[in-house]
Amino acid sequence: MYLKFFVLACISSHSVLDVYAGDCSTRCEWLEWKSWTTCSQTCGTTEKKSTSRSLCCPSDLTDLELCVDYCSLDIADHYDEADCGRECYNGLDICEAIPTDVVFILDSSLSQTQTEFQKQLDFVGKFVDNVDVGPTAFVLSIITYSSTAVVEIEFDDSNSKQSIKDQLMGVQFRPGVTNTNKGLDLARSLLSVRMERRPGMYTKKIAFVLTDGLSNDRTKTEASAKLLKGEAHVVAIGVGPEVSHTELVAIASPADDYSLSYVYTVESFDALYTVLERLIDVSCEKCQPKSLTDIFLLVDDLPDSRMTVTEWQIAVNGLATIVDGLQAFNDENGQRVGIAQFPDTNDPIKQLSLSNTLRKDDILHFLQVMAPSEDTCRGTKDDCVLKSNITSIIQDVIDNQFTSSFGGRDDARKVLLVVSSGRFSNITEVAEQMLNIRLHTDVDIFDIGPGGDVDMRGLKSLVSEPSRVFVVKEDSDMASLDGLRAKFSYIACG
Ligand SMILES: *[C@@H]1O[C@H](CO)[C@@H](O)[C@H](O)[C@H]1NC(C)=O
Ligand SMILES: *[C@@H]1O[C@H](CO)[C@@H](O)[C@H](O)[C@H]1NC(C)=O
Repeated sequence: MYLKFFVLACISSHSVLDVYAGDCSTRCEWLEWKSWTTCSQTCGTTEKKSTSRSLCCPSDLTDLELCVDYCSLDIADHYDEADCGRECYNGLDICEAIPTDVVFILDSSLSQTQTEFQKQLDFVGKFVDNVDVGPTAFVLSIITYSSTAVVEIEFDDSNSKQSIKDQLMGVQFRPGVTNTNKGLDLARSLLSVRMERRPGMYTKKIAFVLTDGLSNDRTKTEASAKLLKGEAHVVAIGVGPEVSHTELVAIASPADDYSLSYVYTVESFDALYTVLERLIDVSCEKCQPKSLTDIFLLVDDLPDSRMTVTEWQIAVNGLATIVDGLQAFNDENGQRVGIAQFPDTNDPIKQLSLSNTLRKDDILHFLQVMAPSEDTCRGTKDDCVLKSNITSIIQDVIDNQFTSSFGGRDDARKVLLVVSSGRFSNITEVAEQMLNIRLHTDVDIFDIGPGGDVDMRGLKSLVSEPSRVFVVKEDSDMASLDGLRAKFSYIACG
């Protein structure tokens, strides 16, 4: 009885209107679940959300427990709970930071429209939504630059999320030339007077530099960036096709223990949100490099998009460079690699599955002997009708190759690297199908395009953002794969 009473008391605290006598029509039937209680939006907690539902009871039974007994139902069905987990905001966890000063340096140059400028402000707003703001967490400042640089929002420890968002609404577009150096200089002078916020406690300083083009004076930009890097971690975010990768690299801080790269690129202002999660990770000192990664290399040998002999050669060398450079290959917590050439209708199976017994040499040998298919089909007539296409092949690899029966590891990060010319016959269709495939998998997809004649639209259609496409122009251009290699170790944030 004591126990029963306790359960009842506990349940009552969750719900006021458990028992309906009046309005409901079917006795002993559970009513609709109420909405879930809200989560507090703090990441890393074990917080639960809960819901409950009422029961339709006879009017003389005002006690839920008695009514449940009367109806021969289980009282446990009245209440449900679930982890708050990652459902906090836009699918992102809120990051709990150590004291961090963040300055956003926004591009207000003529090369963009007012609307595009507004998207930078929206992006900052989303960042603010996703971090803790206040004296012991993030304090933010906003600078814009074009012909001159202007402090739009000052560092102010008393700012709240809302006050920053209110001020963001008032930030004006000030079109002019791209004097990136002035923005960087102003950021440095703001950051240089920021002191530790708690005595003896380190305050991290981060500068996010957004740009959609080339700066007017690259030499000055590099010089200013160098000084700023002495004051803060500098993260460079390039937006759109006009951005110089070289300049971004010159602006950004070099890789360190917390990030393998401080350069991000996105296709358009609309795609800025795709880097949000990583920026938040970068700002959070709860991250560690990890190498537990299962990598599957997929070589596209479909007739439509088949690589030329030259492209094939560049592709093979690119893959060899990557495999050769894996630092933790086959370590227990390191990388495993599998590879396949698709489709494989004509010949014996052309693939090596993920496995801990595979040596680097086996893969390099496989790459050496791998050759493009000939168009003449040697099978029966039925075999010669091609049943697969790039999306069905990718789906098949995702569904099978990463499973434990093929040597995949449950706790590993899963990476699919597709090598292709991107010359698919209907790129729109491929893009639509890939969008759907990516929605339903945790496999990270990257691609490599060999040579100068690849179709960038096709390559982009396979991946979630343009920074995941790696084009290797020629054999001497393997340095462009450095960024890709870095992704095979990764930063895990707890
Ligand atoms: C390509 O695919 C799209 C959508 O799947 C379709 O609407 C369009 O007609 C196709 N284009 C061609 C040229 O087949
Ligand atoms: C690929 O093949 C599948 C079925 O085999 C089909 O549903 C899909 O539309 C095809 N996709 C493309 C891009 O041709």
